[in-house]
Amino acid sequence: MSRPTLIAPSLLSADFARLGEEAQAMQAAGADWLHFDVMDGHFVPNLTLGPMAVKALRSWVQIPLDVHLMMAPVDPFVAEFAAAGADRLTFHPEAGPHPHRTAQLIRSHGMRVGIALNPGTPIAVAEELLDGVDLILAMTVNPGFGGQAFIEQMVNKIGRLRRLIDVSGHPIHLQVDGGINPQTAALATAAGADVLVAGTACFSGGAQAYAANIDRLRAGSPAPSA
Ligand code: DX5
Ligand code: ZN
Repeated sequence: MSRPTLIAPSLLSADFARLGEEAQAMQAAGADWLHFDVMDGHFVPNLTLGPMAVKALRSWVQIPLDVHLMMAPVDPFVAEFAAAGADRLTFHPEAGPHPHRTAQLIRSHGMRVGIALNPGTPIAVAEELLDGVDLILAMTVNPGFGGQAFIEQMVNKIGRLRRLIDVSGHPIHLQVDGGINPQTAALATAAGADVLVAGTACFSGGAQAYAANIDRLRAGSPAPSA
């Protein structure tokens, strides 16, 4: 249980008119990665940003850009995300008929590969892809929106994924995303997660609160009452 916990603030909760400054503030506050949510309006019922925004952000920070694709299809856009400067590309296996091919394509463009499992997606899907992925994302909400409540039944799934990864012997990150706050972060890390994505919990309180927000997530402790 001594693996370090990485914090990946989700820019979905940032001020979109000041995305570069927000990214810089999060880096200065101690973020390990920046999580960037791409939503296409039909794979999930919301619409956000694409490769042009990744490209615009790239020069503002040095930490890895962790791009979470909630879109279908994925393959035609992989090269564009790589050229834009994405370091990591995570996709949902339901996005196309050939997730193994998509994983290979992402890796062939020099990016780290992530596979995202919706709350209703069985872990067996990831089991078949373990050789070709660097990260498994266990969604702890149904994807599409920030600010949703953590689905507690997912703690058991996180534990099963941790055992799957450990047995595989591959150095695969186990990331969680959705409803992560200091309390749920503690549940997720105890179950085996090592990368925490958080939007609301990282960006609340404005830039002066970002470092403390990150520290509380890392420690898995509740915010002091005001
Ligand atoms: C939701 C996105 C998340 C979102 C999390 O579909 O994938 O990354 O930003 O937001 P919070 O942390 O507010 O639940
Ligand atoms: Zn996400």
